[in-house]
Amino acid sequence: MDIQVRVWRQSGPSDSGRMVTYDVKDISPDASFLEMLDVLNEKLILDGDDPVAFDHDCREGICGACSMVIDGVAHGPEKATTTCQLHMRHFKNGDVIDVEPWRAAAFPVIKDLVVDRTAFDRIIQAGGYITVPTGAAPEAHSVPVPKKDADAAFEAATCIGCGACVAACPNGSAMLFTAAKVAHLGLVPQGQPERDTRVLDMLQAQDDAGFGGCTNAGECTTVCPKGIPLTLIGRLNADYRQALRRQ
Ligand code: SF4
Ligand code: FES
Repeated sequence: MDIQVRVWRQSGPSDSGRMVTYDVKDISPDASFLEMLDVLNEKLILDGDDPVAFDHDCREGICGACSMVIDGVAHGPEKATTTCQLHMRHFKNGDVIDVEPWRAAAFPVIKDLVVDRTAFDRIIQAGGYITVPTGAAPEAHSVPVPKKDADAAFEAATCIGCGACVAACPNGSAMLFTAAKVAHLGLVPQGQPERDTRVLDMLQAQDDAGFGGCTNAGECTTVCPKGIPLTLIGRLNADYRQALRRQ
């Protein structure tokens, strides 16, 4: 496949940035989107140019590092698919593809397609944990967890913290991410002692980091590569109201 990519190039946080067009030739339809960018970068390096900076790690859809807006959609055109799992066969020969970073006030651009997502770390630090006593391992099955709760907690725990939900939200809100993290711990017995402080502190950290509020636009769940459902935001709001009442 021969394609053109129009890539956001920004040398640093204070650079205003611009789209730059590159030809990328002879790409296998079975190459991933990141492998296509690897080919582009090899050519840029050979030509003495600065390669395009982008985040990646596992390239298996599990770490949440890859993060780019492809043709206006966070993680690109395939539903429930991270950028690293997106393959070039989903594009056509001769396509012109726009590639941009996440754009959100709380995720400032560091360079090219790389944004600073440490705001998510601060939300996790505020309450994304449980406190357990140290000592010998507890007896197996001493804390029974109903199957439906275990399954729901597991579903919430599949959030990989990529930030696509924030990039897609017209308000730059992190509610789907925070809702997933609050639900994942709040659905199991081990998460109950800190249930109230968790939701209060994580939402405060979210506001402090500069994320916008949720207005139920629903764009977040549409682009989420793990299919985190909007119902978890409803659950988060219910937890928040309960925590306020019990304060
Ligand atoms: S909720 Fe979905 S889109 Fe948002 S950070 Fe988690 S996995 Fe990514
Ligand atoms: S590189 Fe890990 S999810 Fe894409």
